[in-house]
Amino acid sequence: MEDTQLESVLDGLAGPGFVTLPTAWPLGDVDALRREALEGWQDGSFHQAGVGRGGGQEIRSEVRRDLVRWLDPEAPSEAASRWWQWLEALRTELNRHLFLGLVEAEAHLAVYPAGAFYRRHLDRFRDDDARTISCLLYLNDAWSAEDGGILRLYAPEDGRAVDVLPAGGTIVLFRSDTVEHEVLAAGRPRVSLACWLRRRS
Ligand code: OGA
Ligand code: MN
Repeated sequence: MEDTQLESVLDGLAGPGFVTLPTAWPLGDVDALRREALEGWQDGSFHQAGVGRGGGQEIRSEVRRDLVRWLDPEAPSEAASRWWQWLEALRTELNRHLFLGLVEAEAHLAVYPAGAFYRRHLDRFRDDDARTISCLLYLNDAWSAEDGGILRLYAPEDGRAVDVLPAGGTIVLFRSDTVEHEVLAAGRPRVSLACWLRRRS
């Protein structure tokens, strides 16, 4: 990880609780991951995302309408393998500088079909406090404000809303326990890679 990138990440997570890194990921890998997602979605290997955890998980289409597929860390594509390596470096740096005790990462590809949204929520579950840092990598080609699908973060300190355009290559990091956020309705299929760095529950 580059020093300047790491510095922004540490400042953001230790300060407001979130940080956006525009044009942070190589577009060649963004394209490859987007194709992986869209092909998987089209061939039916994605499933409707649920709300809650484990046995308590429910499909609630009034809350979220994205489709997801977990990334298998054991059999990654080349592009996914570079992403896992970066997540691992990030995990180590966050432990070193912020003493977060992060032990593992999990990641899923997500597609929001046209009209899909995810209402305001926190990523940490009520009955499991393992998720500590949320990390999103956007995979969209030529996304503009008219395409919708904005990520709206709410600053924990004052509730101020901060909007992020899900442009391919942008990375967003935030604290899973304090930063509420939502995805506004997408105007066309919107693709992302959503990851969580976890500590022991
Ligand atoms: C999530 C989520 C946001 C996004 O998957 O929990 O909030 O912008 N995703 O894809
Ligand atoms: Mn979320």
